Amino acid sequence: MVKVAPSMLSADFSDLGKELVRVEKAGADWAHLDVMDGIFVPNITFGPPVIKAIRKCSGIVFDAHLMIQDPIRYVDAFADAGCDLITVHCEAEGDIHGAITKIKSHGLKAGISINPETDVSVMEPYMGEVDLVLVMTVHPGFGGQSFIADCVPKITWSKEWAKAHGKDIMVSVDGGINGETAKVCVDAGVDILVAGSYMFKQPDMAATIADWHSRF
Ligand code: DX5
Ligand code: ZN
Repeated sequence: MVKVAPSMLSADFSDLGKELVRVEKAGADWAHLDVMDGIFVPNITFGPPVIKAIRKCSGIVFDAHLMIQDPIRYVDAFADAGCDLITVHCEAEGDIHGAITKIKSHGLKAGISINPETDVSVMEPYMGEVDLVLVMTVHPGFGGQSFIADCVPKITWSKEWAKAHGKDIMVSVDGGINGETAKVCVDAGVDILVAGSYMFKQPDMAATIADWHSRF
């Protein structure tokens, strides 16, 4: 069954703990946490102290998506904050192999993410080391953008790479996911659907998650 990971970027930041509980009660598999540094992407969100604070509110899996330069600097802090998976970008500056090794040294799952304009050849050197690939289907930085369908072949490529190399790699998709684009990604082989604005706009989030779980 495909996992559903609402992106807390679209939650009410004035009551993040309560929003997290709402997501968990709605039946979400993971909570997706978008960390932005204002340098790798032109927006700033939250960091380890906020994640540590909301960790007390729920036991749901924390799927941290680090849109930050030189991510190795903060791996220990995000691990200490209670993240379960930590994903870094293949385009980020710094020692990305080292960041992945450090994430795994904490006993956490490591992911690599790829931007729409980046070729899979940039991500390939990390494929043998990661547990998850996060395919961006929008330019990272903001919620509510339109799905870029040209990125979908990267989902298929990642699943095929994993199969060809005998690796168990989860593939997640992030950006512009709604009921229709989710289907396109599931048909391409995706394992996790990250959805922000669409999910938080639903009058009944639990019904939408249940619908996705039954359809996908
Ligand atoms: C964008 C973030 C996404 C974002 C997706 O940089 O990585 O996780 O929350 O938002 P939607 O689903 O609205 O495109
Ligand atoms: Zn994200």
